[in-house]
Amino acid sequence: MKLLDGEKQNEDNFEKTIRPKILDEYVGQTEIKENLRIFIKAALLRGEVLDHTLLYGPPGLGKTTLAHIIANEMGTNIKTTSGPAMERPGDLAAVLSTLEPGDVLFIDEIHRLPSYIEEILYPAMEDFVLDLVISSDNNKSKSIRIDLPPFTLVGATTRAGDLTAPLRDRFGIVNKLEYYSDKELTDIVKRTAGVFDVEIEDKAAKELAKRSRKTPRIANRLFKRVRDFASVLGDGKIDIKITKESLERLKVDKCGLDAIDIEYLKSLIEKFNGGPVGIETIATSIGEEVTTIEDIVEPFLLQEGFIKRTKSGRVATPKSYKHLEVGYNEPLF
Ligand SMILES: Nc1ncnc2c1ncn2[C@@H]1O[C@H](COP(=O)(O)OP(=O)(O)OP(=O)(O)O)[C@@H](O)[C@H]1O
Ligand SMILES: [Mg+2]
Repeated sequence: MKLLDGEKQNEDNFEKTIRPKILDEYVGQTEIKENLRIFIKAALLRGEVLDHTLLYGPPGLGKTTLAHIIANEMGTNIKTTSGPAMERPGDLAAVLSTLEPGDVLFIDEIHRLPSYIEEILYPAMEDFVLDLVISSDNNKSKSIRIDLPPFTLVGATTRAGDLTAPLRDRFGIVNKLEYYSDKELTDIVKRTAGVFDVEIEDKAAKELAKRSRKTPRIANRLFKRVRDFASVLGDGKIDIKITKESLERLKVDKCGLDAIDIEYLKSLIEKFNGGPVGIETIATSIGEEVTTIEDIVEPFLLQEGFIKRTKSGRVATPKSYKHLEVGYNEPLF
C-alpha cells in the first residue's frame, strides 16, 4: 500500500504543478473563458458573489481546474466535496456551515447527489438559508432556519442530462466544455513541458496533441510517459522519434484511440455487423459498464465521426471501417 500511496501522491503533485491557476493560463474554451471573465468582473464591481455555475462535459476537459480558477479570480477560497460523498443531510449541512462569505463551494459529480440532499440545496442556493429539521421534546419535528453567507456553488458533471430540472434551473451560469483542438492541445503540452523545464520539439508536441483524444488530461498523461522514455532512453529532450516510439509502446494509435475505443469499434463491426445495436448489448459484449461507455467512450467516437447514434441503436461509420482496415459494405436496406 505504501507504494500505491506514494504513487498517488506523485500524481497529485504533478496535477497541482501543471494545473493552470488563472483564466489567462487556461488554454482554449474561449467563449466560456471570455464570458466568465465578464461575469467575474461584474460580480467583483458590484461586490457580490458570482452566480451559481454549472460546468459539464466529458472527463478530463478541465471542469475541476476551472472551478479552482473561478475561486482564484474571485479572490476567495474553495471548499470541495462531491455528490457521492453526501450520504446524510447532515453531511451537506456540515459543509455549508463552514462557508465564509464569498466562498466557492465545489460539488463534483453533482448528478450523484441523493434527492433528499438536493432539496436542502435549493433554499441554500436561492436564499442562502439552511433549513434544518430537528426533533423537539414531544417528538414532533420542527424546522429551524439558519442564515448562510452568500456563496457560489460550482457544480461539475459529466452527465448534465441526469440533473433534475429544479437543480439545473438554479444555476445562473451553465457552461458546456468542448473537446480541444489539436492546436490547443499542442499549447497545453508545450505549457506542461515548460513547467517541468523539459525541451520538446515542435513536431513532438503536435504528435502528442494529435493522439490525446482531444483531452488535456490525456495529453498531460502521455507527456509524462514520453518524458520517462526520453530521459531513460535518450538525453531527456523530447523529439519526434522518441515520441513516436513511446506512443507505439504505449499502444496509443494514430488517431489517439485507446484499447477500449478499439474494442468497442471491433465489437460493433465484427460482432454486430456495424449496427444498429443497443448500448447495453455492446457494453455486455466488451465487459464494460454502460455509464463508462456513455460518459467516456462514445462522446469522443461521436465527435470524431467513428459512430452515429440512431433511433435503433449505434452504427459504425465508414471512417471506423477504414480505421480498423475492414471492408465496408453499404447497408442493403
Ligand atoms: N484548459 C486547460 N488548459 C491547460 N490545462 C488544462 C486545461 N483543462 C484541463 N487541463 C489539465 O487537464 C487535467 C484534467 O483537468 P480536470 O481535472 O480539471 O478535468 P475534469 O473536467 O475535472 O475531469 P473529471 O470529469 O474527470 O473530473 C488537469 O491536469 C489540468 O491541468
Ligand atoms: Mg474533475
